[in-house]
Amino acid sequence: MSDVFENVMELAKRRGFIWPTSECYGAVAGFIDYGPLGAMMKRRIENIWRDFYVIREGYYEIECPTIAQEAVFIASGHVAGFADKMCQCPHCKEYLRADHVAEGGGVQNASTMKNEELAAALATCKCLACEEVLGKVEVFGFNLMFRTSIGPGSQRVGYLRPETAQGMFVDFTRLLRFYRDKLPFGAVQIGKSYRNEISPRQGMIRLREFTQAEAEIFVHPDEKNKHPRFSRYADYSMPLLTYVQQQKGEEAVTMTMQEAVDKGVIANQYLAYYVALTHEMLTTIGIKPERLRFRQHLPEERAHYATDCWDAEIRSDRFGWVETVGLADRTNYDLNAHAKESGTPMTVFIQYAEPRKVPRRRIVPNMGVLGKQYRDKAKKIFAALAESIPEKDGVDVDVDGEIIHIPPDLYEVKDEIVDIRGEDIVPHVVEPSYGIDRMCYAVLEQAYDEDTADGETRTVMRFAPCVAPVQVAVFPLMTRDGLDTIALDITHAFHRKGIQAEYDDSGAIGRRYRRQDEIGTPFAVTVDYDTKENNTVTLRDRDSMKQVRVAIDKLPETLSLLIDG
Ligand code: GAP
Repeated sequence: MSDVFENVMELAKRRGFIWPTSECYGAVAGFIDYGPLGAMMKRRIENIWRDFYVIREGYYEIECPTIAQEAVFIASGHVAGFADKMCQCPHCKEYLRADHVAEGGGVQNASTMKNEELAAALATCKCLACEEVLGKVEVFGFNLMFRTSIGPGSQRVGYLRPETAQGMFVDFTRLLRFYRDKLPFGAVQIGKSYRNEISPRQGMIRLREFTQAEAEIFVHPDEKNKHPRFSRYADYSMPLLTYVQQQKGEEAVTMTMQEAVDKGVIANQYLAYYVALTHEMLTTIGIKPERLRFRQHLPEERAHYATDCWDAEIRSDRFGWVETVGLADRTNYDLNAHAKESGTPMTVFIQYAEPRKVPRRRIVPNMGVLGKQYRDKAKKIFAALAESIPEKDGVDVDVDGEIIHIPPDLYEVKDEIVDIRGEDIVPHVVEPSYGIDRMCYAVLEQAYDEDTADGETRTVMRFAPCVAPVQVAVFPLMTRDGLDTIALDITHAFHRKGIQAEYDDSGAIGRRYRRQDEIGTPFAVTVDYDTKENNTVTLRDRDSMKQVRVAIDKLPETLSLLIDG
């Protein structure tokens, strides 16, 4: 078989999965169109993701704008730090992503190098565009956010969001109220994100506009080892590649989530739970388990906000191991940052099971004397006193920058025991973040196959039935004797059940099967002359090409079972 990538992309273009965008004007790198079948497949993958996160996990979906004001991204750290390292080829003047060039030239861990080190390493590497050896170059940061302005007058600065996550953080107080002030809870969002990637050259893998499906799960920091549904995945096992193994050049090791948590390989149950859920979700859409592993980030590669981070990586024939889902423990970084920038507290009041008795020292000022002595400053002195810890000889209080010494005879110290009902805490966030386009590419690449049928080579997309764009094809053997009418009635019966059925009566039956095999339709129904005798049709399975006869009135129900399992 020739290069799978070339074959898949040729088929994807020809059969309406993926098209270059605005092709008649010359396509722009980093943007793609999903054609009719691609858009249908993508929607199915998104809906399976919803089945996992919205229906099973119970995390409601929200939808925020794709543009947000500058303050959001100042707080999140994207304005200051969301940059990739770039250099310009001195020969062809192309801008290049420095770490990609360096890694292509055999330099290890280029993304974690300092600019000067990277520039030195690039000297012997070849330009990805003109293939000349670069020689002396300068490495500098390039912020990946698309900047825009909001409205005609004030021209407020806005940015296209580089991740869907921030919308869920800035809506935190509303979400908390929605979930009746109780942890844990989650919110999810599926939508477009934008990154002005430097010279994207990897088709659907690196786009400037792409779709993310992200969940932000807010949890009490002391309860990250108490996921309420952890037992569901405790015995679930998958290949994990820890950073210790990576440093030793070892392979991923298969272990259960219980082992991973017990051995401290994964930071906590919450992360382990979503690693396992991700494995289940990705294999449900047809990713082969042997092409899937979870790699822990090296400490130096971890995002500034994360304590532990894992990538679901899918092995591609063309691109090697591709990060497709990022799973991070983001701690309380984002909520603290937005609380500080916006001035809105982002805390949850956690009520204790029983009120707790705690000692409290209260300072009661002698108001009469203080009032007389300090007049208009007295109120501020009372407030400052209440916050102070008095020494033997009194206390120094700061009133509008002026330090005033208050001697002990102007106040009384009262030690008492009080009941505390609870405390305000800032929740931690665990985030599984899925790249839908990378999932679509992996599904396409792994589905592609060629085999021999009736002495001919056939191309077949072996999609899992749940992601196949067309779910069943319906063919009349002939377009006469009422066979076509019966086939159309069957097609409509499928449609009424929500099954995507395609009626096709053109060409020889073998050719019709080949056309459907090539777009990955998992089942085909043929209406023949026996149908008129006994109300049955043939139902063909794409992969085995075996056929069975099924009663017409059982068809929609049978197909629903075959598609959804
Ligand atoms: N909120 C966390 C976050 O955005 P990320 O690792 O930068 O984390 C998550 O992105 C996922 O989004 C990646 O694993 C990848 O699948 C997808 N993604 C990121 N940049 C992309 C790009 N330029 N093109 C296509 N997909 C991309």
